[in-house]
Amino acid sequence: MPEKELSDGTPDRCGLVIFGASGDLTRRKLLPALYNLFLDGLLPPAFGIVGFARSAFSREEFRVLARGAVDEFSRRRPADPQRWPEFEQMLHYQQGGYGDAESFRRLREVQTNLDRVHAGAGNWVYYLATPPSAYREIGQGLEQSGLACSRMDAKPWSRLVVEKPIGHDLSSARALNDALSAGCEESQTFRIDHYLGKETVQNILVLRFGNGIFEPLWNHHHIDHVQITVAETDGAGSRGGYYEEAGALRDMVQNHLFQLLCLVAMEPPHNLGADAIRDEKLQALESIRPIRPEELDRQVVRGQYAAGLVDGQPVKAYREEEKVARESVTETFVAMKVYLDNWRWSGVPFYLRTGKRLARRTAEIAIQFRKLPPILFNRNPARPLDPNVLSIRLQPNEGVSLQIGSKRPGPRAEVSTVKLDFGYHSVFPAGTPEAYERLLLDVMLGDATLFMRRDEVEAAWSFVTPILEGWTHSTPDDFPNYVAGSAGPARADELLVVDGRRWGRL
Ligand SMILES: NC(=O)c1ccc[n+]([C@@H]2O[C@H](COP(=O)([O-])OP(=O)(O)OC[C@H]3O[C@@H](n4cnc5c(N)ncnc54)[C@H](OP(=O)(O)O)[C@@H]3O)[C@@H](O)[C@H]2O)c1
Repeated sequence: MPEKELSDGTPDRCGLVIFGASGDLTRRKLLPALYNLFLDGLLPPAFGIVGFARSAFSREEFRVLARGAVDEFSRRRPADPQRWPEFEQMLHYQQGGYGDAESFRRLREVQTNLDRVHAGAGNWVYYLATPPSAYREIGQGLEQSGLACSRMDAKPWSRLVVEKPIGHDLSSARALNDALSAGCEESQTFRIDHYLGKETVQNILVLRFGNGIFEPLWNHHHIDHVQITVAETDGAGSRGGYYEEAGALRDMVQNHLFQLLCLVAMEPPHNLGADAIRDEKLQALESIRPIRPEELDRQVVRGQYAAGLVDGQPVKAYREEEKVARESVTETFVAMKVYLDNWRWSGVPFYLRTGKRLARRTAEIAIQFRKLPPILFNRNPARPLDPNVLSIRLQPNEGVSLQIGSKRPGPRAEVSTVKLDFGYHSVFPAGTPEAYERLLLDVMLGDATLFMRRDEVEAAWSFVTPILEGWTHSTPDDFPNYVAGSAGPARADELLVVDGRRWGRL
């Protein structure tokens, strides 16, 4: 997966239109990522960026916004006074309404002019950086104005980039995907899950299939269980309105955690092409055993944070956050146990957990190997040896460690648990590109490997939707059920305790 794309060089000449360019994602992620691609010489020649939104900005004001965004959010590289003027030349802005034919006609004019003098060859990427409620109108606008073409191999080409959330359940995801497919083929549609753009996430496949020692052990014969944790210390903050509608299951599990599960669980692809990899991820998703309604409470735990202390600072309860209902039953925490019904993973539980306002910000996958037989160094039942655990740390302190037993120095045969540890930043101090840099580059290159295909998204919703429906029939009566700054609700611990296991420490 990684080397193939990076060696493909710079993309075709093209330009980029960002819908919703006045928003948070554009400022925080897209403009800084584009600037870093520019500094690294990875943008195509004569690139053009057109911001489109309803907000009234002049071209100059949009450039000022972009400069501020780069200064504030660019990874370790604020705007360089020497290089900025060259980057700034690429930035354009078109004010307009998303459902307004006249706005699209003017956008087309801007693009045509740029095609002549600045951007390239009529190839365009359209980035939908608006709330999903605007997607349908934008799709129609593109289609009716003739801006979107319908074939991936058409020349010039156009590509559509879509942000999460793709729907809020299976039927709305299907409806949204139908709307997107009206103007664009699947091969032109790039659904972002920014987790897949992280170097450490891409490294999961390298770890598995670029090394000889792991794959023979990567199955139910040797692995006892898998834990996937994505813990945040942040609360809902200014996104309370969005979060009230979403909750942790939709916001994190359906996409990010399931994508991580796929990379751990999938079979080896027959090549590193986008569809070969996505076919195997789909198989993994489809083999997750559905959770029956009567098992819901035993296999899935939901939680919501109360006031508490995070990093020593007092923080308020979720129900006291801005734009959150005082009696809200939105979950800010989910833990679940799932099984994959396939040969490799038969009987191996995957425990997933994610939540806001937890004790520590971390994203980690822990592969726990089977217990040692109770002989030799492990004879004492009162002090059993720790099993081996392979930990893949996605953030922070990205790296991989392997927990092993080692002889403690001295005359006795005592075993201590120690770690073999690889830290990304100590081995590769130059730093790693931001996920959005990699993903934007891949869209321009036309490589969909790190993007979610329609069937993957819908398979994940097929699993999650019955859980959401089950929850609508049973209002939680214990919310809030965990203190901010803790490891989550006690019931999440019980999920593992009943199986004789426990979560890794948060
Ligand atoms: N922000 C992030 O870090 C982040 C991370 C992951 C995914 N996303 C996803 O990326 C997309 C954009 O996120 P964002 O945070 O940039 O959103 P945002 O700031 O709320 O919206 C972006 C822009 O969309 C326009 N817009 C169109 N219809 C709107 C509506 N009904 N309500 C509000 N604004 C509307 C607004 O511009 P005008 O009023 O000027 O037209 C707004 O500035 C969303 O789908 C979000 O879920 C965002």
